[in-house]
Amino acid sequence: MENSFFQIQGVNKTFGGLIALDNVNLSVEQGTVHAIIGPNGAGKSTLLNCCIGKLKPDTGTVTFDGRNVIGKTAYEINQIGIARVFQTPEIFPELSLIKNVMIPAFAKRDGQFKINWFKSLIDEDAIYEEAVKILDDFGLKEQMRHHAGNMSRGDKRRLELAMSLIQHPKLLLLDEPTAGMARHDTNKTIETLKKIKKSGMTKIIIEHDMHVVFSLADKISVLAQGAIIAEGTPDEIKGNPVVQEAYLGGTEDA
Ligand SMILES: Nc1ncnc2c1ncn2[C@@H]1O[C@H](COP(=O)(O)OP(=O)(O)O)[C@@H](O)[C@H]1O
Ligand SMILES: [Mg+2]
Repeated sequence: MENSFFQIQGVNKTFGGLIALDNVNLSVEQGTVHAIIGPNGAGKSTLLNCCIGKLKPDTGTVTFDGRNVIGKTAYEINQIGIARVFQTPEIFPELSLIKNVMIPAFAKRDGQFKINWFKSLIDEDAIYEEAVKILDDFGLKEQMRHHAGNMSRGDKRRLELAMSLIQHPKLLLLDEPTAGMARHDTNKTIETLKKIKKSGMTKIIIEHDMHVVFSLADKISVLAQGAIIAEGTPDEIKGNPVVQEAYLGGTEDA
């Protein structure tokens, strides 16, 4: 597809002699949830990192809304509307939950390194109210004055999600949002992600947990040893023998 909302074309990335990404092509349509699955070490995080300015591909292009993303800094990419939630939560542990959620909203508006505290005061109320609402949606409102550092791993990851959403991204990239979570926390997170799905925000989600993938994704791409080996709807992927061999039937406990 030539004019996809988000498009990865011919991306290669090597680390020394290791081929981490091997001519990856991927198109994401606006308003859909696109999952990338594959065994550990398949290159999933590397691919996302190439999309957000953390890594530079050796060759290939990544375009978002018709704009080239390669060569832009992580901050510039965030400003054009791409937000991400990493495998390890990046939060401010010493600050309260409510402050954690408000800071990205100010950063988005004022610029990351020059938060304008005077200007901030003008619409601080609106941002505060929105932050409270988002925390409420995520079941975190009651704890909003607590230090973020004291929360469970699952709650920290949901807080990070809240911090992304207040920036109203056009595209949200999620790297294993339920990694390391107990089933109870995973289910809470799925519910939260389903709520966001209803909002129509475009998302790319890397996920290990098949339960999460099959209940959320509109389309799935399967990555193995750096290459896309299959692509389709959840039903198509479930029944695909190549995928079962490479992933579901592998050593990975999915
Ligand atoms: N910064 C790096 N330097 C060297 N090798 C890396 C780096 N990042 C990832 N790799 C290697 O690239 C491959 C893909 O890793 P990764 O993208 O993290 O896989 P996944 O997220 O699918 O588990 C692995 O073999 C990994 O060891
Ligand atoms: Mg990874």
